[in-house]
Amino acid sequence: MASLRNPFTVGQPVAPERFVGRENLIATAFDQIYNRSNLAIWGGPGMGKTSFLNLLTSHQVWQSEDIDPSTAVIVYLSCLEIKPFFPATFWRRIIYLIREKTKDNPTLQAKTLELLKKPKSTKDNLRYILKKIGEENKFLVLLLDDYNVTLNSHSQYTETDVETFLSECRNLAYHSSERRYLSMIVTSLRRLNETGPRLTPEKSPWYNHYAFQQLKPLNQNEVDSLLNKIEITP
Ligand SMILES: Nc1ncnc2c1ncn2[C@@H]1O[C@H](COP(=O)(O)OP(=O)(O)O)[C@@H](O)[C@H]1O
Ligand SMILES: [Mg+2]
Repeated sequence: MASLRNPFTVGQPVAPERFVGRENLIATAFDQIYNRSNLAIWGGPGMGKTSFLNLLTSHQVWQSEDIDPSTAVIVYLSCLEIKPFFPATFWRRIIYLIREKTKDNPTLQAKTLELLKKPKSTKDNLRYILKKIGEENKFLVLLLDDYNVTLNSHSQYTETDVETFLSECRNLAYHSSERRYLSMIVTSLRRLNETGPRLTPEKSPWYNHYAFQQLKPLNQNEVDSLLNKIEITP
């Protein structure tokens, strides 16, 4: 007897070819990427955040949106991977992933290696690599999943450290001249301004360089097209 296979993806993001719906969000994400702008997506567990970021790593999807993926360095990182969260580990991991994604580029290989030899990585290291990426006529698409992790302080990552980290990210994506070579798309469980450090009049808002989009449950049409993909034998 032929065994029946579960047609649903369980416990991991859905593969791009099985991804359904979210057309508006896909268009918004590519608008932001095209303009080297930033996007913050929020939604509860299981809503499809990882699946969505994973979709944005697919070169086929880029082509179907009429954007050439060959000039982009597309890096996906779940902030949950960095446990406990430390900014230095975060910057280092991104530089490492850029290196992994640019194996065909000797300049970027040399520059990333040089930085990875240093004992500690900083935001300015990434900024330097962004400059080099720009000089190579490329740009970085940073897909940061579970970004809310970066907002949780712990014994060696104080609330002040959280604020410093967030302002470094904003600095990179908004104030630096290298922002022309960067588009950041982050996901979180709740809207960033509702979870992160509270604003005070003397502090600049750490999240207002993002466009915000909420990930809602799939609508009826999307559910129908998901079910249509499944062959159900009576
Ligand atoms: N657009 C989609 N099309 C098809 N299945 C999806 C889609 N988005 C999410 N899923 C399903 O939901 C499950 C949970 O999605 P996931 O991306 O892991 O959510 P989150 O990262 O928000 O927790 C996946 O295993 C997949 O089966
Ligand atoms: Mg996820």
